[in-house]
Formats: sequence, C-alpha cells, structure tokens
Amino acid sequence: MENIVITGSSRGIGFGLASAFLARGRGVLISSRSAENLELALEELKKNHPGAPVFSLRCDVTVLSDLEALWKKAEKEFGRVDIWINNAGCAHPMLPFWKLDYADITRTVDVNLKGTINGSHVAFRRMLGQGGGHIYNLEGQGADGSVIPGMGVFGTAKAGVHYFSKSLIEEARGMKVKVSTIIPGIIRTGLQAGTAGTTTEGRMFLSMLGEDVGPATDDLASRILANTSHGACINRMSPPDMIGKVVTAPLRMLFGQH
Ligand SMILES: NC(=O)c1ccc[n+]([C@@H]2O[C@H](COP(=O)([O-])OP(=O)(O)OC[C@H]3O[C@@H](n4cnc5c(N)ncnc54)[C@H](OP(=O)(O)O)[C@@H]3O)[C@@H](O)[C@H]2O)c1
Repeated sequence: MENIVITGSSRGIGFGLASAFLARGRGVLISSRSAENLELALEELKKNHPGAPVFSLRCDVTVLSDLEALWKKAEKEFGRVDIWINNAGCAHPMLPFWKLDYADITRTVDVNLKGTINGSHVAFRRMLGQGGGHIYNLEGQGADGSVIPGMGVFGTAKAGVHYFSKSLIEEARGMKVKVSTIIPGIIRTGLQAGTAGTTTEGRMFLSMLGEDVGPATDDLASRILANTSHGACINRMSPPDMIGKVVTAPLRMLFGQH
C-alpha cells in the first residue's frame, strides 16, 4: 500500500485526493501554508476516515527547507514515500498583466512554478536515496500553450511547469524515480471561483463543464494509483472525458447536479 505526500492539500483538489487515497487504505501526509486551514482539514479527514494513517505538517512550497521537513515527517511516519504530488497552486485575479499587483505576480510564479521545482528537487533526491518513487506535477491553464486573457502570469507559470516536467521526464528515463503529470479537469474549487467564477462567461463555463471536488478527485485518485508508467499524463480533459461532460451537461444542469 502506497504512502502519499500532497502539497497544498488543506482544501480543493489536494484535500479531495487525500480523502480518496485514505478511503482506498493508503497513508497520506497533507500540508499547506496555513496552519489554521491544515488543522481543520486534518480534523475533517480524521472524522471521515477513523483510524486511517493521516498526518499533517505546515509547509510553504516556496521555502525549500519546509519541503525537506515535509519529506522527513513522511519518512518518520511511513518509513518511505511512494507518491509525491506537487499540487499546491494559486492564481492571481483575472486581470490584464499591467493591472496586476506585483505581489500577486511573484506569488503566482513562486507557488506554481518555483514550488513545483522545489518539491520535485527534494522528492527526486530523497526517492533516489530510498530506491524509487513516483512524482506527479499538476498542470493547468496555459500548460498546453493556450491563452486566456487575464490569466497570463498564471498560464506562464503552468507552461513552465509543463516544460520543467517534460525535461525532468527525459532526464529521469530509465531511472527508478518516475515522474508524471496531472491534468485534473475543470473542478469547482476556490481557485476556479476566484478566476473563472468572477466573470459571467466563466460562471457559465464552470456550471456546464465544471465538476465537484469529491467525484472528480475520486476518479483522479483511482487513475493515479493504477498508473505505473514513467512520463504518464493523467489527463481528465482528454477528448473522451470532454465529450462525456459536454453530452451530460444539459441533464446535469436540468437536475441541478454538478
Ligand atoms: N481547479 C481546477 O479546475 C484546476 C484545473 C487545472 C489545474 N489545477 C491545479 O490544481 C492544483 C490545486 O488547485 P485547486 O483548484 O485545488 O486550488 P485551491 O482550492 O485554491 O487549493 C490550493 C491549495 O494550495 C495551497 N497553497 C497555496 N499556496 C501555498 C503555498 N505557498 N505553499 C503550500 N500550499 C499552498 C492552499 O492552502 P493554504 O492557502 O492553506 O496554503 C490550498 O490547500 C493547482 O496547482 C491548480 O493550478 C486546478
């Protein structure tokens, strides 16, 4: 049974994944920058999965020493880490570049891109030491090169995550440490509410094609656990996935189901 570390797992996709892995009997270490959010998340996971092996540690992914401490905590609780998911992310308000506060610009690049590089550096070296493991990096809007006006810096950071992951996958070919990526789909989280959810078109898009965290992360967790390939892309926006969502959208909207 795998032991799993997830960065940015106090809410949203990270929290949903933690819950889905625990439901499947795996060990999970959750983490996020806010100790308060993390405490609430741990309490809820323990309540929903009594006796499950779940632990937490505050970790800001922009700080390398926090990530080292996260690995050590996982090693102490589980002995080894089988899967490490660089999930932590944040987005700036949906505005043209020149209207963004500089603090939002640096935070977006630091958390999404630098955080993924930091987490990968710590996990890759430590996994080499323990003889193997699998790292997953979260892609997102911009990773495929597409442009959404108002999401430029976020998209730039995710394009960087895509390139970084692609190059790490090439460098690690034939090694015991595997690296893969995740395209999670369109999931109604705080991040989506603060970006797409702030425009009329975005709200329509979210209500037609967005999914709730629980079912989406349940499916995602199954796909991650089933994957043994290096360089895989767990893609929940593949043509069959999207056709299914488009076809069922009117029914889901009619019956008020998301
Ligand atoms: N939702 C979607 O449809 C979607 C689509 C494609 C890709 N993604 C990607 O999926 C990942 C998760 O997104 P989400 O939608 O679940 O977002 P979310 O609901 O806003 O959750 C983000 C998580 O990251 C944590 N976080 C933020 N800054 C951090 C930092 N400096 N260090 C550590 N943790 C930090 C947050 O916790 P604290 O605030 O407590 O630190 C929170 O737990 C992101 O990488 C996002 O780009 C999401």
